[in-house]
Amino acid sequence: MRILVTGGAGYIGSHTLLQLLREQHDVLVFDNFSNSSPEALKRVKQLANADFEICEGDIQDAGRLDQVFGDFNPEAVIHFAGLKAVGESNEKPLEYYAQNVAGSIELLKVMQWHNCRRIVFSSSATVYGDAKYLPYDEHHPLQPANPYGRTKYFIEEIIRDWAASWKVASAVLLRYFNPVGADASGRIGEDPNGIPNNLVPYISQVAVGRLKHLNVFGADYDTRDGTGERDYIHVEDLARAHLAAIDFTATHTGCDAINVGTGRGATVLEMVNAFEKASGRSVPYQIGPRRDGDVARSLAAVEKAEHLLGWKAKLDIDDMCRSTWNWQSANPEGYRQD
Ligand code: NAD
Ligand code: UD1
Repeated sequence: MRILVTGGAGYIGSHTLLQLLREQHDVLVFDNFSNSSPEALKRVKQLANADFEICEGDIQDAGRLDQVFGDFNPEAVIHFAGLKAVGESNEKPLEYYAQNVAGSIELLKVMQWHNCRRIVFSSSATVYGDAKYLPYDEHHPLQPANPYGRTKYFIEEIIRDWAASWKVASAVLLRYFNPVGADASGRIGEDPNGIPNNLVPYISQVAVGRLKHLNVFGADYDTRDGTGERDYIHVEDLARAHLAAIDFTATHTGCDAINVGTGRGATVLEMVNAFEKASGRSVPYQIGPRRDGDVARSLAAVEKAEHLLGWKAKLDIDDMCRSTWNWQSANPEGYRQD
């Protein structure tokens, strides 16, 4: 099938591309490389031993999208492109609304011009906000606590209205929990710019010696060991969820939001231990104050994904830490070394 992948050069996009290519799909990547490297795509081509087209462009540019849709004529879109840093979204909210929300509107418009009716969108568990109950199921109230989270919420609503107005349209909003890990080859992985905001990239940079120690954001939460608990999901499992969602859109119309997690949580200290075991390195840490805006626990209800998509996570935190270490130890400077 012909699938246009926006943001395909990024962390989750590159892992999903690899699986799409292995399943013989015909893909085109549309990316402005604002947070990624063409090197990732070069490596995906090598790993899959397959070629695909790459178009450099911004999703806010309807003219460019129109041209690419005209040439490639995709049957479906996987929409990863967007900005994703919570802290930055507080400082530059308009930039987040322009790229994420306005960019998604341009994409949906162009899809309709070209009669492309199927979309899988990267949403986030961050749309839920503070937990009224756990695990979060898809009916949990939506109260995102920052501009980034609100862009995801608004895009979800816009896609829902788009699908309601165009009866043949089919949309899946995948609400990712905490994606971590890397392809088992160690050739592609998460390569954040600057000092990582997220836990697992931070831990792996401590283990490889780029950072001195981990700052644990709070040890006084109401959890097993007092540190924050999250539902970490292996990026390979997450990539597989996109293939299942694309299949689902072939036979369904309308719009469904679906959680993508494991249903199991790990605390910060459990992650540190698992990483030390996987890497054989020590991960020194210091307990510090809580980070503003953090919740104590986040866990996914996973029944809807299994019921609608026939998808279930298979990999555990040991697999996540092992594959992260494979990637980080072979590429201590990420994609920058080649
Ligand atoms: P990423 O930054 O690695 O990938 C995003 C890609 O989109 C990058 O290649 C970037 O260059 C591209 N891009 C950004 N703005 C663009 C624009 N205006 N036009 C064209 N290309 C653009 O991020 P990721 O971790 O792979 O996340 C992919 C998607 O999943 C994002 O929408 C993100 O918000 C969402 N998501 C990520 C996480 C996570 O923890 N990584 C969690 C929940 C949701
Ligand atoms: C963060 C984002 C969320 C986004 C998600 C993507 C914030 C407030 N939230 O969530 O919107 O969808 O990433 O995966 O940024 N931790 C430390 N030390 C660190 C880093 C993290 O102790 O250096 C702790 C955090 O307090 C948390 C856990 O590790 O308990 C996971 O943190 P992180 O990886 O940033 O993910 P989230 O907080 O879930």
